[in-house]
Amino acid sequence: MGLFISFEGLDGSGKSTQIVKLAEQLRAVHHDVLLTREPGGTAIGDQIRSILHDVRNTEMTALTEFLLYSASRAQLVRQVIRPHLERGGTVLCDRFADSSIAYQGYGRQLDLGWVCQVTHFVTGGLMPHLTVYLDLPVEAGLARKQAAFAAQQGERNRLDLQPVEFYQRVREGYLHMAQAEPQRWLVVDATQPIYQVQQCIWERLQRLLQIGEAAKK
Ligand code: TYD
Repeated sequence: MGLFISFEGLDGSGKSTQIVKLAEQLRAVHHDVLLTREPGGTAIGDQIRSILHDVRNTEMTALTEFLLYSASRAQLVRQVIRPHLERGGTVLCDRFADSSIAYQGYGRQLDLGWVCQVTHFVTGGLMPHLTVYLDLPVEAGLARKQAAFAAQQGERNRLDLQPVEFYQRVREGYLHMAQAEPQRWLVVDATQPIYQVQQCIWERLQRLLQIGEAAKK
């Protein structure tokens, strides 16, 4: 079984930049890296993604939203993630199950216990070995996102149109999950320069790989 790492954070936290950098670093030490994302990562998932992101879908209920993210995930786990891990490869995923707990559980305030239960069923119990959470104050994330839109980088999606309190609940949710399970989570201060964030992630990963090697002996 290979190594599975997920990246989490609010929009504007720099996840996409860091995940690409980590993929490069791991490939340099001969990992067979598969980089994927949620929602999407499969042809079916990409179709679900376009429904989820369409700003015209204003009537979408929180439950529909949760089930669509879950449907995309069910497909991704079985079609892409698990087969690659079974081949001994390394999977880096830009968002995974914890996004649903943070956004639909804490953010949309769906019943948390139920969201966790369904999510467990959807992933078949598959959990990342490491989840990197890039933590950023909500206002800073929104400002970065705003600047990106102004520079015409990135498209505005349905999840970009929520009130500030929504993102605050999402952030609190992430911090709560990270605190409850520190052996899986790495919280990194995403206000730091890119190379420092990268350094923090790499150090933690080195430790994880050493533990893995020691366990094999
Ligand atoms: P995306 O354009 O991929 O943004 P980001 O770069 O922030 O990942 O959009 C994904 C959006 O979907 C993001 O706002 C978070 C949201 N989301 C959920 O609400 N629940 C989920 O389970 C997932 C995977 C994503």
